[in-house]
Amino acid sequence: MQNILITGGAGYIGSHICIKLRESGYQPVVFDNLSNGHRDAVSSDVPFIHADIRDSAALNKAFDDFKPAAVIHMAALIEAGASMVEPARFYEVNTAGALNLLEAMRRNGCNHIVFSSTAAVYGNRDEGLLSETLEVRAENPYGRSKAMVETMLRDYADIYGFHAIALRYFNAAGADPEGRTGERHDPETHLIPLVLQTAAGQRDHIKIYGTDYDTPDGTCIRDYIHVDDLASAHVKALSHVIASENAAFDAVNIGTGEGCSVKEIIQLCKEITGRDFSVIKDARRPGDPAKLVANPAKAQDMLGWCANYPSPRQIIAHAWAYYQKNMRKPGKPDAQ
Ligand SMILES: NC(=O)c1ccc[n+]([C@@H]2O[C@H](COP(=O)([O-])OP(=O)(O)OC[C@H]3O[C@@H](n4cnc5c(N)ncnc54)[C@H](O)[C@@H]3O)[C@@H](O)[C@H]2O)c1
Repeated sequence: MQNILITGGAGYIGSHICIKLRESGYQPVVFDNLSNGHRDAVSSDVPFIHADIRDSAALNKAFDDFKPAAVIHMAALIEAGASMVEPARFYEVNTAGALNLLEAMRRNGCNHIVFSSTAAVYGNRDEGLLSETLEVRAENPYGRSKAMVETMLRDYADIYGFHAIALRYFNAAGADPEGRTGERHDPETHLIPLVLQTAAGQRDHIKIYGTDYDTPDGTCIRDYIHVDDLASAHVKALSHVIASENAAFDAVNIGTGEGCSVKEIIQLCKEITGRDFSVIKDARRPGDPAKLVANPAKAQDMLGWCANYPSPRQIIAHAWAYYQKNMRKPGKPDAQ
């Protein structure tokens, strides 16, 4: 069984990928500093290295001890809003941290990598479905910190012979269909868990930021991708980089190709939870694009991947089931 080093494996998406890797015959080895992840999100029999990607000695030891066939690099700071306030932290962890990891890979003769990139690299655009051929134009430090890693990966492929895929995720949501893991960000900034917390009475209301966008109902449209589908995409991308004979870098969108508005998500959450709650209209947030929807054709053509759970209804149902089982904490303040 091949070992796969997964940085950020104790996080929301990483914990789902660990499950999928094992089901697919790979052995995950988690490398996480637990700054935002949870030790108990990963099964206790998965090797766990509690360390920081900026720590070269810890990385060297991980490569030495486990001789991974490839790396899935997910460890990062993820809040675009926070990156507008403290960009240095994002460049230090997301960009310099990634460089430190790539150098450890080079030193240790491991040159296969799948990287967690983001639709934020596209920035604010008017195009319909977003394709990978579009020029990268991130509009906040978070997106730029990821775009820089894509640039490095392209150079590492061209010059050092790396086999690399950057998966540009759209909006990850939902939970493991069997309820083994789910979304536990703190603070939570993603729409679906915030709406579900409101439905559960842990928040007084949900805010809609902007109701005057040029969209059919005036609210922002996003492409919601089930976290289980995202995990499957990683396994496909991993198999692809491990099997590929030639060094290459590719960026691949992971989305469904269908958009759903904020108002539609809120309505679906009301239907699925069977609960009504207060919705407040607020001003637009700076930098929020009206619409971000993937063209997923490349993922299908290159990786043979497509979404198993394309409907936001299924995504919300799984998130709600996980929430009800694991996340009910009475009296948590409204953090919006
Ligand atoms: N959640 C989304 O919708 C989304 C969308 C696009 C891209 N992404 C990317 O996917 C990846 C995972 O996102 P997530 O939602 O699971 O986030 P998360 O915060 O739940 O997971 C990130 C993990 O990285 C770890 N980490 C952070 N800094 C580290 C460091 N310096 N050294 C070692 N570990 C460190 C954290 O402890 C955490 O477990 C990130 O790279 C993020 O940018 C997420």
